[in-house]
Amino acid sequence: MTVQAIFDDLKTRFSDMVPEFELREQAEQVLEIRRLKAERSAVILAHNYMDPVLFHAVADIRGDSLELSRKAAETDAEVIVYCGVRFMAETAKILNPDSTVLLPSKLGGCSLASGITPQQVRELKKMFPGAPVVTYINTYADVKAETDICCTSGNAAAVVQSLDADLVICIPDAYLAANIARETGRKIVFPELGVMPPGEPGVDYGMVGWNALCEVHEQFTVEDIANVRKQIPDAIILAHPECSPEVVQAADFSSSTSAMARFVEQSEGGRYLLLTECAMGDNIAAANPDKEMIRMCSVRCPHMNEVKLQEVIDALRYNQHVIEVPEDLRVKAKRSIDRMLAVKA
Ligand code: 13P
Ligand code: SF4
Repeated sequence: MTVQAIFDDLKTRFSDMVPEFELREQAEQVLEIRRLKAERSAVILAHNYMDPVLFHAVADIRGDSLELSRKAAETDAEVIVYCGVRFMAETAKILNPDSTVLLPSKLGGCSLASGITPQQVRELKKMFPGAPVVTYINTYADVKAETDICCTSGNAAAVVQSLDADLVICIPDAYLAANIARETGRKIVFPELGVMPPGEPGVDYGMVGWNALCEVHEQFTVEDIANVRKQIPDAIILAHPECSPEVVQAADFSSSTSAMARFVEQSEGGRYLLLTECAMGDNIAAANPDKEMIRMCSVRCPHMNEVKLQEVIDALRYNQHVIEVPEDLRVKAKRSIDRMLAVKA
């Protein structure tokens, strides 16, 4: 395919969201990525939050954290380029140690993943002996290694229900945990380390949470929803479960990024507002030109945003940034991811 042919294709699909002069440059980058990908026998995984051209015209496999974990476990590619953040690329390495896993950004942080340490998990386990630890996939390998089972936004309630335990520790996202607690009919407490939560007569808690938040999703408020409903009464509002429980309850639908995309795809009519990272709205609009996405989004994840087409070229050209996980941690962390992957959601 020539640059001109790629440009013509990009123009048809993305001219609503990317200016033409940028599409010209991006067409050249897409061609170079395709060449490098073949040269290196690489597969490109892209999270739903990637920019539209990278997401639709470059990635081989797209999806949410759960789908990408499953695909990372299945691929036998020599090189996996993970367009997402570090904890995601680490998960791919844990599941596929024989592949070279590349993260196209240097840092690729996440406020949830940096929101808890292995030591803090050990202290929680000491405070609530015997309670299984459910760890959100948005954590680093050393934290996953301390825990019993992972979950993602797409299977969190199913994972908790699979445990058959009266008390579950659910870390690190306070909002996600509170949303799962409501969905599974449990009362949640957020203890200070070393201080047991006071019991309430007649009310037992069934979940222990932690205090980390997603720096992107914590910004959405119930007032945002009320304002949109006032201006656009037929708006269908979808909120990621990393939003506060109040926001999730005020929305019309809440689930993982891919479940939100499927919801829009399968719904008739309506106008849709996504309360999540803004690139998602563009990606859904590009895939569903007949659907009306409300563009009132101003919230980008700075970490996801580090990965652009040029970073993917550099990753393939210079073999950067290679993700490594020490073998002892990898084996322990893999156990909790494998347990999650075995749960039907
Ligand atoms: P999903 O698993 O729903 O794609 O969420 C990942 C994430 O980091 C959302 O902020
Ligand atoms: Fe982490 Fe939030 Fe960014 Fe997702 S959107 S990667 S949870 S900081």
